[in-house]
Amino acid sequence: MIRTGRPAHFSRLVRKCLWRTARGDSSPEETRRARVLKFRFRKDGLEQLFRFRERKALSKQTIHPAKVVAGGVVPPGDKSISHRYAMLAGIAEGESEFSNFALAADCHSTLRCMKSLGAEVVSDKTSVRVAGRGLHGLKGSRRTLDAGNSGTTIRLLSGILAGQNFTTKIAGDESLNQRPMKRILTPLREMGAQISARDDNFAPLEIRGGKLRGMHYEMPMASAQVKSAVLLAGLFAEGETSVTEPARTRDHTELALEEFGVPIERHGRTTEIRANGGRKLTGRKVEVPGDLSSAVFFVAAASLFEGSALHIQGVGLNPTRTAILDVFARMGASIQMLSLRTAQGEVMGDIAVKGAQLKGGVLEGAEIPLVIDELPMLAALGPFTEEGIEIRDASELRVKESDRIAALAENLRRMGATVEERPDGLKVAGRGAGKLHGAEIEPRGDHRIAMAFAVAALAAKTPTTIRDAECAGVSYPTFYDDLARVAER
Ligand code: S3P
Repeated sequence: MIRTGRPAHFSRLVRKCLWRTARGDSSPEETRRARVLKFRFRKDGLEQLFRFRERKALSKQTIHPAKVVAGGVVPPGDKSISHRYAMLAGIAEGESEFSNFALAADCHSTLRCMKSLGAEVVSDKTSVRVAGRGLHGLKGSRRTLDAGNSGTTIRLLSGILAGQNFTTKIAGDESLNQRPMKRILTPLREMGAQISARDDNFAPLEIRGGKLRGMHYEMPMASAQVKSAVLLAGLFAEGETSVTEPARTRDHTELALEEFGVPIERHGRTTEIRANGGRKLTGRKVEVPGDLSSAVFFVAAASLFEGSALHIQGVGLNPTRTAILDVFARMGASIQMLSLRTAQGEVMGDIAVKGAQLKGGVLEGAEIPLVIDELPMLAALGPFTEEGIEIRDASELRVKESDRIAALAENLRRMGATVEERPDGLKVAGRGAGKLHGAEIEPRGDHRIAMAFAVAALAAKTPTTIRDAECAGVSYPTFYDDLARVAER
C-alpha cells in the first residue's frame, strides 16, 4: 500500500484546471459570483502549481558516504509534548508560553486547529504563546479542522472535541485519512460522544460533542494516542475516567495534565484522571525538551563510524521514551547520559555518543510500543550490525504515516540488503550479507523513513538520493542541514 501526502496525478489535475479557466469557458449568463470564484480557483491552482514545483525542486537530497560523525547537535523540541501543551493551553485559563516548541509541521497543525477553535496563538519559530479559552470556552469552527499528517493531532483532539457543546469536522492529508480511527471511536462513543467516520473507521470525522460519562477503559492495544484521547475526554466527563494499558506507553499526557493542574493517579498500568467535569486548567510557562525520537537518528549516525564523537544537547529523557537507548546499549553502542535535570515532570539531559561495532539482535513484545517510532532507524541499521536486526510483534508499523514494514523492506533491498518481510515485522541480515550501496530511496511521504535512510546512506559505498526528502519536515525541518554539519567526509 503506497500512501503519500499528495495525490498521484496532482500536477496533471492542476494543469487541466488551469487550462480550462485560461480558456475562459464561461457562459454569457455567468454570474459575477461565479466569475469571482473562478478567478480564485485559477489563482489557487497557480499558487498550488508553483508550490508543488518548488517542493519538487527542493525535495531531492543526495547523501554522500561519510567517514565519521562528530560535533554537536541540538534536536528540535519534542513533538509529542508540544502537541499536548498546545492542546491543554487552548483549554486552560490564562496565557501559556512555551520555549523550544517543536518546529515539526505536525505540531503546527495542532496549533492551527486550536486557533480555529478560538484559542489565540502567537508563534515565532520555537517560541509559542497561547491565550486559553478555559475548559468550556472553545468555539465551533465552520471549516473542517485540518490535522495534516498528524495522527496525534486528530486522535488526541477528538478526545477534547467529544466534550464540547458543538459539532466539529476534522480530517487530514491523504495518508492520515487512511489511518485507523476506530481505536478512538470505540471508547469515546462509550463515554457518550456521537462520532461518524468514513467507513466507520477513517477521517473525515464528524464529532458531535456533548455530555460525557466517565468510565474505565481496558485498552485492547498499547497506544499512547488512545490512552490520551480517553484521558482528555475524561476532563469533560461526569465521574472519574481511567484507562488500563496492556503495555506501558509514553506518559506525556499524564505529566502535562498534572503540570496544568489536573490530578492524575497511577496504579501499575492504570491511569486515572480526577477531573469530574469541572477541573480548571491553568496556563503555564514551560520549556519543551528536545525530541529523543529525532535525536536517535544522530545516535545511530555516530554509532556507525569508529572515530565518531557526538554531543546531543537538551534531549527529553522521560523513562517511557528511553527504551531505545537501552536497545542501543544492549547492541553495544557507546552512549552516555549527561547533565540530567527535570523540568515540569519531564527529564532532560545531553547524550554523548561514540562510534561502536553494533551487535544487532531481536526486538519484540512489550518493548515494541516503547520504541515504536525508532523502529525504522533500527531496521535501517540492520545491515551494519554483526547479527542483523529482527523486529517482531510490530504490525502497528503497517498503519503509521506509511506502511513502514513495506517501506523499510523495499528501500533496504534497493540498497542491496537481504530482508525478510513478515506481517508483523522484518528480519534484516547483518554485515555478513555484504556492504550496502547507494540507491534512490522512496520514503512514501514518511518523515521517519526518509531520515532513517539518509543515515544509512552515510555508511553506504556510493551516494544515495532521497526522493521527496522534504517530508522530514513533518517532525524535523532542519534535519538534512544538521546531518550535513556533523557528517565528515
Ligand atoms: C504518539 C504515540 C505513538 C507514536 C506517535 C506519537 C503520541 O502512536 O507512534 O508518533 O504522541 O502519543 P500510537 O499511540 O499510535 O502508538
